[in-house]
Amino acid sequence: MLKWRTAELCLYKRRGIERDAFPKLVELLKTFHEGRMAIQKVGVVGCGLMGSGIAQVAAHAGFTTIVREVSPEVVDKGLKGIDKNLARIVEKGTITEGQKAEIRGRLKGTTAVEDLKDCDVVIEAIIEQLPAKRELFAKLDAICPASTIFASNTSSLTITEIAAVTKRPERFVGLHFFNPVPVMKLVEVVRTIATDSDVYEEMVAFGAKLGKTPVRAHDSTGFIVNRLLVPYLLDAIRALEEGVGSIEDIDNSMKLGCGHPMGPLTLLDFVGLDTTYYIANIMFDEFRERRFASPPLLKRMVLAGWNGRKAGRGFYDYSDPQKPKAMNF
Ligand code: 3HC
Repeated sequence: MLKWRTAELCLYKRRGIERDAFPKLVELLKTFHEGRMAIQKVGVVGCGLMGSGIAQVAAHAGFTTIVREVSPEVVDKGLKGIDKNLARIVEKGTITEGQKAEIRGRLKGTTAVEDLKDCDVVIEAIIEQLPAKRELFAKLDAICPASTIFASNTSSLTITEIAAVTKRPERFVGLHFFNPVPVMKLVEVVRTIATDSDVYEEMVAFGAKLGKTPVRAHDSTGFIVNRLLVPYLLDAIRALEEGVGSIEDIDNSMKLGCGHPMGPLTLLDFVGLDTTYYIANIMFDEFRERRFASPPLLKRMVLAGWNGRKAGRGFYDYSDPQKPKAMNF
């Protein structure tokens, strides 16, 4: 608003323009400015489980979307997953074949970070490691114009620390989506102490345009969801370690007693035990509270490579993915 008042004042100072014409002129300039600033092209870095989901919802919401992965094979794998998801919603009658083709027409894969240079927003969904994210954003910062807004889908790293590698910490937010992205309705929109208020509001509105319900969160490790979810998941493992109940009984208790769509141990397998272990360690490092400390069983399962559904084994054995069988430790 201040910007527009300043522009208005400058115009008032100029001779030869009727005072009555200024509000109209300011309005015109404002419309022009907003039109130019509106988000049209979205870049997504990472086409794994989260990145492909984010790219899908962005293209579905009408944005021209470009998604980058490290190799053509990984790009292909991600796009194939999106095709499968879109085919499923065509089958259900949620969208038509024509709409599916339009969505796919808006979505492109690439292996070159440089191809993201003309994006209005770039959302990063790569490996959950600070050095990798900082390296990526330093590169993007050099490639993208100053107007591009950067967002990280990190679930546990500090947004401020990632943003600090760029020259635009005021145009940097967290956009934390949930797995499976096309289904889960939430996006946490995270602001740091450096995020510009207008940029933040624009990102909250963008989250809604993606069809999600945006919630506002500060840059506190784990934001809202993982701050509450991670201690709950870790406690379920502790309950198992202490023999409070079996794997199935712990899961059924929370499903049938509390109406959760998945029990905590099934959810751990779904999210990935390695991912949860990693998040828990970051949160413990930050808060030094026992509730974020990884239980020994989780560490041992990760060391054994029993990372959950994607590994074929976690708290359940997925040899038959349709009928997971509880493990017998
Ligand atoms: N991609 C797209 N759509 C999917 C999907 C996927 N991977 N998996 C399921 N769906 C769709 C189905 O097509 C179906 O759609 P419909 O309602 O229009 O028919 C709907 O989701 C329900 O699927 P199913 O009937 O096959 O199975 P369920 O009813 O068991 O639902 C679930 C599956 C949506 C995954 C449900 O079990 C659930 O909500 N689980 C909890 C998930 C959760 O808590 N996620 C958050 C994890 S935490 C996180 O991501 C944060 C991170 O930082 C750790």
